[in-house]
Amino acid sequence: MSDATQQILYFYYRHPISCDLILAKLRTSRGHLDGLRPDDLFPHDQDHYGGLAATDELARGAQIASRTCVADFCAGLGGTVRYLAHKYGANVTGIELTPSRVAGAQELTQRVGLQDRARVIEGNVMSVPLGDGIMDAVVSQEAFCHVPDPGKALSEAFRILRKDGMLAFTDWIANEQLSADDAQLMWEGMAIQPLRSIPDYRRLVEGSGFKIHSATDLTAEWGPILKKRLAMHQRLREEARQAGTPMGHDAFHQSYIRFVELIQQRKLGGVRIVAAK
Ligand SMILES: C[S@@+](CC[C@H](N)C(=O)[O-])C[C@H]1O[C@@H](n2cnc3c(N)ncnc32)[C@H](O)[C@@H]1O
Repeated sequence: MSDATQQILYFYYRHPISCDLILAKLRTSRGHLDGLRPDDLFPHDQDHYGGLAATDELARGAQIASRTCVADFCAGLGGTVRYLAHKYGANVTGIELTPSRVAGAQELTQRVGLQDRARVIEGNVMSVPLGDGIMDAVVSQEAFCHVPDPGKALSEAFRILRKDGMLAFTDWIANEQLSADDAQLMWEGMAIQPLRSIPDYRRLVEGSGFKIHSATDLTAEWGPILKKRLAMHQRLREEARQAGTPMGHDAFHQSYIRFVELIQQRKLGGVRIVAAK
């Protein structure tokens, strides 16, 4: 197993947003887990910045509608997969590396009865277990930052898309090069690979064969979103402790504080890229 995979599994096996914590919270608030609906999960299962509104932006860019075949790269617990299936009627397949996230995604999807058009399968986005030209759209949210060779993931997106298929994703960017200490902190706490600027990202996407429609700098938008997310993670840590579910390792919580500072200083930021095959 590569260092990158080990680091990702270490992080996500301990991640405080877990299927078990989501179900524990719903059991407490509702008294039982019978008759769960997708809307019950959405306040808890979205592991990206900006919640459902951010996913709606990607859906608009990727032209997702009823029966659109979508692949979600690095799908986590499947929050985006279920939302696109439920709200838009899309047929969505998530690709996810961490086995416990795949199992959690499957359990949550079954519990809300979306398994006929929402699934998460185990796989690496650098070598996607899907055929050529079968998808109308590929989406991804805040995950290529973990991938050692995002160019390979983009080439895989290109391969599985049909002609004129759409790619829409968000990811971390470095507006300036991180110090060695900060880069090490991001790696140890959150399995973050070396990052790139928006111009470098554009070159990577175009180098994989795509025509870029837009590359939107999200750095300013992420400032307040991430301050709230830091507070959420501090609450989740205590909720997870009480529920007896994974709480996140210390390095994660330390690196998140620094990450949010770097976003406020605009040294780190985000981008949304929409492109066509
Ligand atoms: C920040 S989470 C995003 C989850 C999801 N996109 C969401 O918005 O809820 C990143 C996910 O990427 C997965 N991941 C990281 N590297 C991957 C790879 N090479 N292939 C597939 N999944 C990967 C991690 O296991 C983790 O579940």
